[in-house]
Amino acid sequence: MSHYLDEKFSVFKNSPLETKLQSFKRDDKVFDLVFSEQLDRPFIDGIYHTTNALRRISKSKEGRVFLQKLLAHKRAMLYFNQPSSRTFLSFENACHILGMKTSEIRDTNVSSEVKGESFDDSFRTFSSYANLIIMRSKGKDHAERGAWLLNTYSNRPVPVINGGSGSDQHPTQAILDIYTLQRSFADVGGIDGKTILMCGDLKRGRTVRSLSLLMNNFERMKLIFVAPKPFQMKDDVLDFLKRHNIEYMKEQESLKKVLPLADAIYMTRIQDEHDLEAGESAQFDMEEFKLNYSDLSQLKDHAAILHPFPRRDEIDVRIDEDRRAKYWRQERNGMWTRAALIATIFQVEQEILRYEKEHQL
Ligand code: NCD
Repeated sequence: MSHYLDEKFSVFKNSPLETKLQSFKRDDKVFDLVFSEQLDRPFIDGIYHTTNALRRISKSKEGRVFLQKLLAHKRAMLYFNQPSSRTFLSFENACHILGMKTSEIRDTNVSSEVKGESFDDSFRTFSSYANLIIMRSKGKDHAERGAWLLNTYSNRPVPVINGGSGSDQHPTQAILDIYTLQRSFADVGGIDGKTILMCGDLKRGRTVRSLSLLMNNFERMKLIFVAPKPFQMKDDVLDFLKRHNIEYMKEQESLKKVLPLADAIYMTRIQDEHDLEAGESAQFDMEEFKLNYSDLSQLKDHAAILHPFPRRDEIDVRIDEDRRAKYWRQERNGMWTRAALIATIFQVEQEILRYEKEHQL
């Protein structure tokens, strides 16, 4: 990255969060989605309704054709320089549901970055050909930098969506997780007042970090962070929770101890790609932090089990057959909620809601 732009970006990066969030808006609406903190309750509820409408409309061929016309005049670029199955495919298919054409770079070895082009120049190049950039990166602040760069230097308004930024954030995963929780708890009073347990590598897991940062949008939430000390939730998220008076506790010995308290159990894998030296994570025994088949009897009847995937051995596959296992639905919800997000960014969500109403779906 160029030294000149490094300095300019660092001024932006160090500015107060509110200032940054403001710069990711257009007409007072979310334009770039970089951080979970950009998402408020009306936005989250809007995604919920738009997602439900999209799913209903998609049941008929006529409905699918209607949706494909909505953004048929737009092109999206998927720039993923970190491994991805679900996020990539669900975004790509979300674009296609709305009729958008997509192009992709999934490996910097096949882009001009290998010839020494800077991230900034590559990013501006992608923006020349697309109306939307969806990006996943190893770097914590690449999506932020990309959005800042285009907002500062490009005349064309091209929104940037963060599809996972290093070990920092994954706001669209948080959106689909919340949607899954809203659906799971529809008959038991919604998300408000629930206890959400998160287990695994909370320190470097961007999904649990981004999900925690949405908790201020709900009432009377309680969080339980279950992880051995080296993988515990970092202070920045804990400080956020304190600032918003959200109750949390840490359990550092065993998942079993706290399972009966949870309304939702969010399991995650160890993020060993972020190890500073080979084998660093492997030295910690995670046996007490797995969800075993025999644990099911400890769970509340309405409990929802989530996992952002990929799964290793944190959840016994036999649990997949239990009605409380929501992770396969959660995965599919990713495509629908991402379509709802893109529709909202391009301001066609009202057309979707109108169609649903007119066709009494
Ligand atoms: C997560 C990610 O990439 O952060 N996966 C995903 O997007 N569904 C979780 C993970 O990799 O562990």
